[in-house]
Amino acid sequence: MRRAESQRAVKGRERSGVEAPREHRSTIGHFVTFEGIEGSGKTTQIRRLSAHLTAKGVPHLVTREPGGTPLSDEIRALVLVPREETVFPEAELLLYVAARAQHVRGRILPALLSGQAVLCDRFSDATTAYQANARGLEASLVERLNRFAAGGLVPDLTLLFDLPPEDGFARVKGRGYGPDRLERESLEFHRAVRDGYLRLAGRDPERIVRIDAAAPEEEVFRSVLRTVAQRFGW
Ligand code: TMP
Repeated sequence: MRRAESQRAVKGRERSGVEAPREHRSTIGHFVTFEGIEGSGKTTQIRRLSAHLTAKGVPHLVTREPGGTPLSDEIRALVLVPREETVFPEAELLLYVAARAQHVRGRILPALLSGQAVLCDRFSDATTAYQANARGLEASLVERLNRFAAGGLVPDLTLLFDLPPEDGFARVKGRGYGPDRLERESLEFHRAVRDGYLRLAGRDPERIVRIDAAAPEEEVFRSVLRTVAQRFGW
């Protein structure tokens, strides 16, 4: 997509009110998302890829969901803090997509339009895996809300760091600080999240590349570098 088309997409979306826009991919800056269950090591890999891009002089933004703007960071704190009150899946879904709506318009699109690459720790696929697959909310509703929140923006590449939830749990436990509200969910829940991700990867193998996250960190990073070199010449 060219800059003018992208700006039209943004304007068209503003006019369209609640209507979910058609999907579009950014070819102005490359948009790369990192997904996986808890403890998959994706945050470490983003940090390493960012260092690699800095060394190569590739301008980029590192951000995460939920988060990335002051409002979205506040929503992150709200949705992740463990609390006594039951958080109903419907409310949880709306909080995540609200954070995304703000993040896309306030941070991601401006960076892409200025030619920066964007490395984002989680995006719409997380909502499908967690809120549709694991929480059991209707997949078509989640998909529609995802499109609405993202303004139709779809990652150019998604790296899926895949490993068994048992291994992910062990890494989270060894981290030295307490688990957040989602990390406290059962092994069953996290199995459903993983299944959700693998199903998404099966449906869209061009965009979503599965990386074996059970391998040593160095090997995982080599896979990341191989993938982004092939796709973007980084
Ligand atoms: P993080 O700990 O990897 O930053 O992700 C925050 C948590 O929020 C993680 O448990 C996954 C969860 N999550 C959802 O359930 N739905 C979403 O749409 C997103 C972005 C994250």
